[in-house]
Amino acid sequence: MYNGEKLNPEQFVRDAVKEISEQVGSDTVVLGLSGGVDSTVTAVLVDKAIGKRLVCIFVDHGLLRKNEFEDVLEHYKSLGLNVKGVRAADRFFAALKGVTDPELKRKAIGKTFIDVRADEARKISGARCRAQGAFWPEIAESHSDKGVIKSHHNVGGLPDDLDFGLVEPLKYLYKYEVRQVGACLGLSSHFLGRHPFPGPGLGVRCLEECTPERIHILQEADAIFIDALRREGLYDKIWQAGAILLPVLSTGIKDGRRCFDNVVALRAVNSVDAVTAEVIDLPFEFLQKVCKDIVAQVEGVGRVVYDISPKPPATIEWE
Ligand code: XMP
Repeated sequence: MYNGEKLNPEQFVRDAVKEISEQVGSDTVVLGLSGGVDSTVTAVLVDKAIGKRLVCIFVDHGLLRKNEFEDVLEHYKSLGLNVKGVRAADRFFAALKGVTDPELKRKAIGKTFIDVRADEARKISGARCRAQGAFWPEIAESHSDKGVIKSHHNVGGLPDDLDFGLVEPLKYLYKYEVRQVGACLGLSSHFLGRHPFPGPGLGVRCLEECTPERIHILQEADAIFIDALRREGLYDKIWQAGAILLPVLSTGIKDGRRCFDNVVALRAVNSVDAVTAEVIDLPFEFLQKVCKDIVAQVEGVGRVVYDISPKPPATIEWE
């Protein structure tokens, strides 16, 4: 097991593959993929240890980025992973109906994830273990001695009655170390350089109730922002960026008429391990252009603001 010294990725992979093989024996392992770096690195590591006895489940909760489900599923298949894509947006939106409290929202999303994955896991004969890609700050923040800061939903994963063993090879690594291990496993720098994305997805960036309509607005605004960051060569200089849909309507004028439209906040931060974060000083002209594009192209958005708050005190996600 990794002991906290400077990571040697090759050695880590060799040790992890051996440990996973020993732990799992001849069992089948179920892994919930999120589309992110952590669960993908975990999947490739476990795949290296036990091959097709790893069954991955990738759930579309309706809270992913624009076109994310199709793109990511394709990527998983190209990596040779044994993966099943499950479209379950309706179940998530039903669970989120009327939910506005951030923690209740996380719990509703987390519980639905567990239900959907458990339904799928029960269909897999011989499944006895589950693997998960939680990394160290998530585990630490979810179990702080000052109580739960945010109940990161992906710490956990299947209901107790399934009585599965737990495979967590990245448990003691920081994010940059997870990326080093991913590179050692042959994952592309384009993929490894993707910004972290929370398990509850746009659910924690859509303040107040998450309806399909509000998530659609957020997906469109977010895609304009992220595409612009990539086009301008800014994406790789940033730890994490995204759009947030605020729970207020603001006054505007469109076609000579007064209107009340949604407000979108943009956030872009740098960090090492997500425990602290500083705001990126994005060029003003860039922000103005993104604002113009969003209000022109996204129906229902009339105002865009840029979040200049560091963590602490402001957490990276607004909820
Ligand atoms: P905060 O908002 O706590 O975020 O500053 C720190 C890092 O954790 C991510 N995050 C989450 N990831 N489930 C996740 O899988 C969650 O509920 C969750 N909440 C925050 C966040 O995107 C950032 O990278």
